[in-house]
Amino acid sequence: MRFSTASVLACVAATASALNAFRGDAQPQSLVRRVDDLDVPGENPLKFCDADRSDDMIVLEKVVLTPNPPEAGTTLIIEATGTVKEPILEGAYVNLSVKYGYIRLINTQADLCKEMKNVDMECPIEKGKISITKSVELPKEIPPGKYTVLADVFSVDDEHITCLTATVVFGRKALGGMLGDL
Ligand SMILES: *[C@@H]1O[C@H](CO)[C@@H](O)[C@H](O)[C@H]1NC(C)=O
Repeated sequence: MRFSTASVLACVAATASALNAFRGDAQPQSLVRRVDDLDVPGENPLKFCDADRSDDMIVLEKVVLTPNPPEAGTTLIIEATGTVKEPILEGAYVNLSVKYGYIRLINTQADLCKEMKNVDMECPIEKGKISITKSVELPKEIPPGKYTVLADVFSVDDEHITCLTATVVFGRKALGGMLGDL
């Protein structure tokens, strides 16, 4: 019944790496902070944590999950594209939390550069467009219920890279009540 940290991190790494950060080099400083829609473009359950992402080091342009939403017992394909605004160096990290309903399953800090190796990328991640494709086998034993993932990503200097959140509900069809009602 483990919802593998590796799978979660693979998703996060793929997503994080897709982060499209570039909002243009010389942005006029506006007194009115820009407020964007929180939905991450593409077929996915992801949302940005923050409406104002103008200082983020990555601009995530699109994330496509197949299937969307993810299903237990299937292969999840993650395709993400984005733009890196500032090189991402060794030491970047992800503060990751996964909740199952109200229960906190995972609350951890992960090494972003290490996770990026799962998607065949290495730090430093240079400025420019990036795109990532990753397949993740989702175990069929994922306990049904609502999972909330939050990934807040920072550079080695604690600059904000991006922050994403997602809520995914896994159904019980694959499970047959093996685990009972939690
Ligand atoms: C990230 O997580 C670590 C360890 O849990 C914590 O000490 C730190 O304050 C968190 N950083 C941010 C910016 O939330």
